[in-house]
Amino acid sequence: TIILSIVGARPQFIKCAPLSKKIREWCTEILVHTGQHYDENMSDVFFSELGISHPDYNLQVGSGPHGEQTGKMLAEIEKILLEKKPDMVLVYGDTNSTIAGSLAASKLHIPIAHVEAGLRSYDRRMPEEINRVLTDHVSDLLFCPTQTAVLNLEKEGVTKGVFITGDVMVDAIFQALPIARKMSNILADIRVSANEYYLATVHRPSNTDDKYNLLSILQAFSELAYPVVFPIHPRTRKSIENYRISLSAYPNIIFTDPLPYVDMVRLLIDSRLVLTDSGGLQKEAYILKKPCVTLRDTTEWIETVEEGWNILAGADNVKIINEVSTLDGYSGVHRQCYGDGTAADNIIKIIKSYFKK
Ligand code: UD1
Repeated sequence: TIILSIVGARPQFIKCAPLSKKIREWCTEILVHTGQHYDENMSDVFFSELGISHPDYNLQVGSGPHGEQTGKMLAEIEKILLEKKPDMVLVYGDTNSTIAGSLAASKLHIPIAHVEAGLRSYDRRMPEEINRVLTDHVSDLLFCPTQTAVLNLEKEGVTKGVFITGDVMVDAIFQALPIARKMSNILADIRVSANEYYLATVHRPSNTDDKYNLLSILQAFSELAYPVVFPIHPRTRKSIENYRISLSAYPNIIFTDPLPYVDMVRLLIDSRLVLTDSGGLQKEAYILKKPCVTLRDTTEWIETVEEGWNILAGADNVKIINEVSTLDGYSGVHRQCYGDGTAADNIIKIIKSYFKK
């Protein structure tokens, strides 16, 4: 059996690490990196620290408008599929690499397995929402983190091949916890003390490609009661440069380059609260019982909001500041609803039984 796995963006490296190991214990995996993310600290560092095998192919598509970026991937992935004839294509999450992989495979009638299926923000202005919906509708095996995801699929008439497996990001973060505690010196490196800072990330086009929203968010961060550690995504860095925003005007914000996974996990462990527009970080905050103020108006991780750990504040600086003071120190019911760290095991069992049929 040959499984061809496709990754390309930072969160996908994290998601594939636990599952790729299990696949390789059982069958042949061909790993394709689309090259959507290509900076050393957005890509290579994750492969080395998470022990992911060197990709068999790197398509080096790089950045570009959505159509161009996705189109290049599609053309290259198709060639590999025709040559290697895998028995299944495995895709993760909701990026342009996900949709390119699933579209190429579906036209060649190769079964598709989607990890993190059924997520919906119901906001079609997000490119990720389009990628999720389309990928789910051509997938043969749909691995849902939660019951909510299963119900979302049901509403769209997708019921065949749907399984609740838990979320592979729980597996990844549980495995990283002891390593982060032991190996990471990030707090000393950036001179912050445990429990005396907030952790923030911003990279959604709705926040970075709109000067007013970006300034509003930075303004909010600069007025919070604790310093804000802010690793800057390359997209956000470009916007800051384009808008000629001076970072030194924000002394309450500690700006850093994008950080390796273990350092991010370490910063999460010791933070008071998280501010983010990332889907993954909302979930990671919840898994580690950290309250989160989300810098968006919608979320696909609604359980975090329902349990009270997450509040949606958009880019409104007054709202952000108010919600941070409401949530700082929060500790309510926590059901660890994304699983117990066995998602990769559950997924591999389902894949094996699919091939036994
Ligand atoms: C992508 C995903 C998003 C995910 C995010 C994680 C899509 C549609 N979006 O968004 O869901 O949350 O990855 O980070 O697939 N850049 C670099 N170096 C890199 C990568 C990007 O400089 O290694 C810059 C480029 O200017 C590029 C911009 O960042 O144009 C955006 O990168 P892109 O891959 O298009 O999307 P992300 O915003 O990273």
